[in-house]
Parts: sequence; structure tokens; C-alpha cells
Amino acid sequence: MGPSGAGKSTQMNMIGLPDHPTAGDYWLNDENVEELNEKEQARGRNEETGIVFQQLFLLSKLDARQKVEEPLVYAGMSAKKRKALAEQYLEKVELEERMHHLSSELSGGQKQRVAIARALVNSPSISLADEPTGALDTKTGEQIMELLTALKQEGKTNIMVTHEP
Ligand SMILES: Nc1ncnc2c1ncn2[C@@H]1O[C@H](COP(=O)(O)OP(=O)(O)OP(=O)(O)O)[C@@H](O)[C@H]1O
Ligand SMILES: [Mg+2]
Repeated sequence: MGPSGAGKSTQMNMIGLPDHPTAGDYWLNDENVEELNEKEQARGRNEETGIVFQQLFLLSKLDARQKVEEPLVYAGMSAKKRKALAEQYLEKVELEERMHHLSSELSGGQKQRVAIARALVNSPSISLADEPTGALDTKTGEQIMELLTALKQEGKTNIMVTHEP
């Protein structure tokens, strides 16, 4: 939590590796990230962190299921396994009926749920979410929190920005 402009999103972007600190070091799993090459950083990003991007697929031609499958494509999983796993995660966020829809055909909260399914589908050790429940109604927000809580019980780390105590 913190006021607008405090640096919450910036910190998330550094932990999730799209962004780099201008000073200091960031160590992830005993490795100094600044010393890794781009390929190693991309692997770390894909395997260790799952980021809930708010503007996930604004201009994408992919449908919801394909979008959720993306991290699994990078991880080299077979098409059949990928499809099944993506469907399982879309079910967890109650979007199985919308899985063949494009971004333009989904509501804000539905897009947010696709983004959450995508961030969690490859069981990252750290999930990062910038106001993940901000666009959701109370019930859906609670479901998302249950998903994140279940991950925590598996020993995963959740880092999130929220303005809801
Ligand atoms: N790429 C950038 N280059 C320079 N300054 C930036 C950049 N991105 C963000 N900032 C500045 O860094 C500060 C922190 O921004 P950040 O987006 O992390 O805030 P935040 O805590 O997430 O705020 P909010 O609650 O409004 O989302 C702000 O003053 C912002 O203007
Ligand atoms: Mg922010």
C-alpha cells in the first residue's frame, strides 16, 4: 500500500524483471539479476514470476485461452497439455465460457481475470499483482483472493498492490 506515485508499480516491475534498478542489485534465487544475460533473465521472468498485467491484451489477436497459454508456450509445453492447463485456470477464475473470446469482447473485470489466470498458469514462485481486485465486484474479488491464498499455502509468494485493507 502507498500513495499514488510512491513507486509501487515500479517496484513490481523490477521484481518481475521487465525493469531494472538504476542503482543497487537485485538478487533472485541467489543470483544477481544484473549479471544474467537477456536469455537468462527471460527464463527467470517466465519460470519464477507471474505478473498480472492490467493492460494484458489490448491489441492482441489472441483469444482468452491462447493468452493464458502464452507462458506455457515459452516454457516449451506440448499443445495438448497447454490447452488443458489453460482451461483449468480459466475455470478457476470462472471464465471457461468466455475462453474463445477476444479482448474486445470481454468486460474489464473479465480481462482482469484472464490476466490473473495467465499469471498463475505456470505456478510461478512469485506472483505479482498491481491492484488485481480493483476492477472486480466483491464476490469475484474474494475468489481471486482465495486463489492467491491457496498459492501461499503451497509455499508461493504473492506480492500485490491494493487499496483495500
Ligand atoms: N519510466 C519512468 N521514467 C521516469 N519516471 C517514472 C517512470 N515511471 C514512473 N515514474 C515515476 O516514478 C514514480 C513512481 O511511479 P509508480 O508508477 O511506481 O507509482 P505507483 O506507486 O504505482 O502509483 P499509482 O498508485 O498511481 O499507480 C512517479 O513519480 C512516476 O511519475
Ligand atoms: Mg501503480
